[in-house]
Amino acid sequence: MNAVVPAPLIEAAGLSISFNGSAVLSSVDFDVMAGEVHALVGENGAGKSSLMKMLGGLYTPDSGTIRVRGVPARLASVNDAIDAGIAVIHQELNLVDTLSAVDNIFLGKEPRTRLGFPDRRAMRVAARNVLDQLGFRADPDTLVGTLRVGEKQLVEIAKSLVADAKVLIMDEPTSALSDAETHALLTLTQRLRERGMGIVLISHRLGEVFAVADRVTVLRDGRRISTLPVAQVESATALVSMMIGKDFAPPERGDDEAPRAQGASSTRVEVRNLTLWGPARAMVRDVSFSVLEGEVFGLSGLLGAGKTEVLEAIYGVSAYAQEGSIAVAGQRRSFRSPDEAAAAGLAFVTEDRKKDGLVLEQSLEANFMLPSLPRVPGFPFYLRRRLHGRVAEQARASRVKHRSLAQPANSLSGGNQQKLIIGKWLMTQPRILLLDEPTRGVDVAAKAEIYRQILDAARAGVTVLIASSEIDELTLLCDRILVLCEGRAKRILPRSDFSGDELIRLASP
Ligand SMILES: Nc1ncnc2c1ncn2[C@@H]1O[C@H](COP(=O)(O)OP(=O)(O)OP(=O)(O)O)[C@@H](O)[C@H]1O
Ligand SMILES: [Mg+2]
Repeated sequence: MNAVVPAPLIEAAGLSISFNGSAVLSSVDFDVMAGEVHALVGENGAGKSSLMKMLGGLYTPDSGTIRVRGVPARLASVNDAIDAGIAVIHQELNLVDTLSAVDNIFLGKEPRTRLGFPDRRAMRVAARNVLDQLGFRADPDTLVGTLRVGEKQLVEIAKSLVADAKVLIMDEPTSALSDAETHALLTLTQRLRERGMGIVLISHRLGEVFAVADRVTVLRDGRRISTLPVAQVESATALVSMMIGKDFAPPERGDDEAPRAQGASSTRVEVRNLTLWGPARAMVRDVSFSVLEGEVFGLSGLLGAGKTEVLEAIYGVSAYAQEGSIAVAGQRRSFRSPDEAAAAGLAFVTEDRKKDGLVLEQSLEANFMLPSLPRVPGFPFYLRRRLHGRVAEQARASRVKHRSLAQPANSLSGGNQQKLIIGKWLMTQPRILLLDEPTRGVDVAAKAEIYRQILDAARAGVTVLIASSEIDELTLLCDRILVLCEGRAKRILPRSDFSGDELIRLASP
């Protein structure tokens, strides 16, 4: 008797694509089976998103074939992909902020009444039903623009379920989620798999890959290096080594360097009884700490604990009414503009790269130079030439994968955009560096590189304040960590007392 071997939901063979003459993917094979989670990993710029955009009908391959349930398919548009049962949740979400969750879910395919009008009642009932299954708590009539990232993702998933997708592709879905939201999404992934969906998960958080994926494909420089069952992968380190094509040594921080906080260096930033009043409650309440020259000081806590708000207050861009005082280099300061803060030697890498990170349509070079310009004396044209060499140097040091410094920032992969943002601020040679979730979306190897740069800067005397939801990141980098919970300072832990469990315990209300 012959066992029935099911055809893969998607079977792509020999896919290639290039942009401006440079190959981004070279003859890549990729398949997705029903009832599996297939992880796709690789360094920033390896081609993961591009591969998924071809399956989602956004990019047309230069060559290669795509079969959907055994039948050759031409996916020339997003609608073709949806008709073929393929839904993609992109790195940058694709919802209409000014429409409600219900309207987004049914956009372009509204059920109609017999008279041909959109059947709003049916839509609301169906939306509620799907959203309930996904654990979406908010009102489906809420405008999407007011939802949190995790909720928006659920709306995207609801949309694909309503469209009866067989394959769900998620491009770094957890990079902007809290731990609890990440857990909920991964659990949901398992449920969808049990229903027989094929799921593609792109992630730089390799722990997730080991936790939920059945198979993993590694891409490197646009080529498929390997596809294998996750159970056969020895360790995360082994997986990173496949991604970068050489042995990977996870970053460490020698204990001889720590702890600077006990040294004789001087106080650079001093926050006293800081309270920030939000519209309904205090976002930060009576927080005090001081940070030394050359110290790496961490801010830990759950989403909404007040980490970002503290950094914003120091940089003088807080939206909230402020009490208490902030001193920089021994002087009480309250900066009225980013220029003023920058002139005092501060640099701020914000968490929202879409909003205030980059001028996307401008060149890499222009983006690198932008924050440094006010600080180089000389005429504009003279100044450009002088900076040019430094830009090239910084682009290399930050490992921004690029073809030319003249290419626009929006042609970089997501993680490389983040490296560019950190690099341009390091280039200003700040004395105080404020970092908010600096390595979101950055691959493991590049992260190690960014960590090295942060520690180098600290060794050279730069004071670093880093807010992060990744506990491993903080325990690796910091001399001390302040744990915030609902706006209040719970404790400041010295390096000798760091433990992941303790940090999690302190962060919980
Ligand atoms: N529309 C485009 N125009 C020019 N170059 C592009 C375009 N799309 C992708 N690329 C290039 O293709 C390469 C692969 O990019 P892609 O976004 O697929 O990488 P990725 O693996 O998803 O990286 P990340 O982990 O940073 O998201 C990058 O070097 C990128 O600059
Ligand atoms: Mg990508």
